[in-house]
Amino acid sequence: MVVDNKATITYVQLLKEDLVIMRMVPNDGPVPDYKAGQFITLGLPNPAEGGKIVRRAYSIASHPENRDYIEIVIRWVRKPLPGRLTTQIFNAKEGDEILWLKPTGRALLINEELPNGEKDTRRIICIGGGTGLAPFVSFAQHFHDTNDKREIIILHGASYIDELSYKDLLTNLENESIERGKDEWNFKYRAAISRPQEWFNRSWAGQVGRVETFLRPRDGGMSPLEELIGDKITKENTMLYVCGWQGTIDGVMDFLKPLGFATEHDKREDGSFEVKYESYG
Ligand SMILES: Cc1cc2nc3c(=O)[nH]c(=O)nc-3n(C[C@H](O)[C@H](O)[C@H](O)COP(=O)(O)OP(=O)(O)OC[C@H]3O[C@@H](n4cnc5c(N)ncnc54)[C@H](O)[C@@H]3O)c2cc1C
Ligand SMILES: NC(=O)c1ccc[n+]([C@@H]2O[C@H](COP(=O)([O-])OP(=O)(O)OC[C@H]3O[C@@H](n4cnc5c(N)ncnc54)[C@H](OP(=O)(O)O)[C@@H]3O)[C@@H](O)[C@H]2O)c1
Repeated sequence: MVVDNKATITYVQLLKEDLVIMRMVPNDGPVPDYKAGQFITLGLPNPAEGGKIVRRAYSIASHPENRDYIEIVIRWVRKPLPGRLTTQIFNAKEGDEILWLKPTGRALLINEELPNGEKDTRRIICIGGGTGLAPFVSFAQHFHDTNDKREIIILHGASYIDELSYKDLLTNLENESIERGKDEWNFKYRAAISRPQEWFNRSWAGQVGRVETFLRPRDGGMSPLEELIGDKITKENTMLYVCGWQGTIDGVMDFLKPLGFATEHDKREDGSFEVKYESYG
């Protein structure tokens, strides 16, 4: 039988009517141990189902070194029918109780070693669609707090500018990288807005289109991503992590496969790969 733990919601930041950042603190004992890239299972009893507990997975946006709370970012699923758990979560308030099961998940664990046992020092590129940014917010803060010197670039795709959920935090991390120098902290963050024609997005001056367009070469030359990092990405120098809709994963692989990149799911006989992903599907 599954035994749920209890936590208290301590912080609710509604970014828009269907997007929320939430923090929770376990009622009994410390924040559980977890690794950057993992998800936690949350649950609430559903009155419409006779109090049956509905449980769902949520990527953890906070980082393992943060022992104060677990943070998540949640989309309220409205169509075609209101989601069973997210509708309840969007009615929850600071001080309310929520159930949780311990963090788990292997798909987006940070790769530390190459198949030959050498340390993996390749540049890291994280591509997050919508709330699929969450595991990479954890990556960035984890790398920062553990003084990891690897180069890390986060690309976020959203339909609307008010869905750039961690713009402040990630911009501050990039500014710190500029101030300290890339030998100390090597971080960049860029976003793409996929509905630039909409009035609400009229102030957007950055990349337009879905997030995978960062990988599309311009006129046979460098892609916007390669222009940003000032280097060609190859399977020898780059490791990618992708989280989002299956269409985002497929779109990214459409650009990477011709360059010889392989996913962990399709790793080569020698155990090598350059892409890890977790899809919404
Ligand atoms: C590893 C992992 C990590 C995740 N991380 C996050 C995260 O960080 N943030 C986040 O927001 N989400 C995340 N999710 C998604 C999350 O787990 C839930 O799937 C999501 O929140 C929807 O849950 P729900 O109970 O509200 O919707 P559900 O009730 O499960 O509904 C799901 C879909 O089915 C439709 N539906 C429901 N009932 C019917 C019906 N009778 N007929 C037709 N359609 C129906 C709903 O409209 C909706 O589109 C993650 C999922 C996984 C697997
Ligand atoms: N790890 C997981 O499994 C996980 C993690 C987080 C969220 N989720 C679940 O995923 C659902 C939606 O997430 P969201 O609201 O964060 O995403 P979203 O805001 O709807 O979309 C994010 C970006 O992805 C693009 N997109 C939409 N559909 C696409 C497709 N089929 N192929 C390629 N790109 C696509 C959007 O472009 P357009 O503007 O063109 O639509 C937008 O730029 C939610 O139900 C959430 O619960 C799952």
